Amino acid sequence: MNTRVLVVDDDDAHRGMLRMMLRSWGYEVDEAGDGDAAVEAVRAQSYDAVLTDVRMARMDGIHALKGILAYNPALPVILMTAYSSVETAVEALRLGAFDYLIKPLDFEALRQCLQKAIEQSRCSVENRELRRQLTEAAGPEILGHSPAVEELRAIIATVAPTEATVLINGESGTGKELVARALHMASERASRPLVTVNCAALAENLLESELFGHERGAFTGADKRREGRFVQADGGTLFLDEIGEMPLALQAKLLRALQQGEVQRVGSDKPLTVDVRVIAATNRNLQIEVAEKRFREDLYFRLNVINIEVPPLRRRPEDIPLLAAHFLQRYAERNRKSIKGFSPQALDIMLRYDWPGNVRELENAVERAAILCTGDRITPRELPQAVARAADAPLPAEQPAEQGDGSLAGLKLDDVERRAIEETLRQTGDNKSEAARRLGITRATLHNKLRKYGLE
Ligand SMILES: Nc1ncnc2c1ncn2[C@@H]1O[C@H](COP(=O)(O)OP(=O)(O)OP(=O)(O)O)[C@@H](O)[C@H]1O
Ligand SMILES: [Mg+2]
Repeated sequence: MNTRVLVVDDDDAHRGMLRMMLRSWGYEVDEAGDGDAAVEAVRAQSYDAVLTDVRMARMDGIHALKGILAYNPALPVILMTAYSSVETAVEALRLGAFDYLIKPLDFEALRQCLQKAIEQSRCSVENRELRRQLTEAAGPEILGHSPAVEELRAIIATVAPTEATVLINGESGTGKELVARALHMASERASRPLVTVNCAALAENLLESELFGHERGAFTGADKRREGRFVQADGGTLFLDEIGEMPLALQAKLLRALQQGEVQRVGSDKPLTVDVRVIAATNRNLQIEVAEKRFREDLYFRLNVINIEVPPLRRRPEDIPLLAAHFLQRYAERNRKSIKGFSPQALDIMLRYDWPGNVRELENAVERAAILCTGDRITPRELPQAVARAADAPLPAEQPAEQGDGSLAGLKLDDVERRAIEETLRQTGDNKSEAARRLGITRATLHNKLRKYGLE
């Protein structure tokens, strides 16, 4: 990783000399001719240290120091001055300067000072990163205070310690993998591996050998025996992501493995006993897949011992501010920026947008905004266009009360009907003919209902 230093001095010759010196020490160097330009530069680009003159014609070093630290308090700033004024030095250190050097510079002292400054700033970034990893090792934190998320946490706490197979349902980006990890980390198997297989990522034959392993020579290219993911997960948890994409023939083999607790490497007839807990996830509605003969019913029942539904973000907009603030903190830190938060307009737009890509889309939008942001708050300008367009949309209508247990009892029939229509349209990617077919009504009836519920 390159180390980048910003040199601030209004004396061109002195600045040029410092640039050459620092480059010869292996640093990348940017320059600014006054304090204003220095603050601008720090907002636009991440630095490992700033070296600034104190006496400058426009905005002096002390003001620049304040501006820089207001923006990024962790950035080490080293001041240089020709006048050894104790008061200025004390003032600078009190304001948070890293150190204070007297001109003419002692280059060896400068070299050491820069080195120390950079080490220290790296350490503090690394420490925070380590601390984050440690807390994640205790199980990922599932953020949110909406009733839906509170309930999600409660189900995880109840189900995790059991050996039950779990099927996690939810749209893409809602946090299915996060839930799977939380289940594993809160289980007795936490000290054993959590192995993930994405069933959509591989062709059928490769997926089979990925899951069950293969013998040497089992097929062209199998030049070594290979253990499958089942065996790697022995004693732990196997997370089968996107299970809805698994080819039918393989579903049969998976079912056998689950029922018998045994797997066979491709090209072998010797079964291996494995002790694996399976968690599966999908963004498809497996009941529909079963009805349409794309998913084995027996496997569906075997997997769906416990069902966990991860709700889409638009059903719990109250979680948006908390999640956004969490991601902003992460990405501001990674990009070494000190951004205080979101402008009210930006937050308002984020609340209006419906986030079809759910939490992942929100995370990506915030990361992008953190990188683009040059001020101390995220404004609508830094939000992706699709999100910003939500500025014109009305605030989301109050959602019908949702029963915690997924039961429909007590809901208004109109609400049930509306939800069935909305959800089916989403699942069919807004294909009205297909949605009407699945709902068991004609297209004309669907249109009438769309009009009735204002869903057109
Ligand atoms: N409640 C939450 N609190 C904190 N982070 C979350 C939450 N939900 C999701 N995330 C984060 O959002 C991102 C997407 O989550 P995840 O990968 O688990 O979604 P997914 O449902 O598996 O998506 P896909 O269907 O696309 O695979 C991850 O970075 C995850 O850490
Ligand atoms: Mg996933």
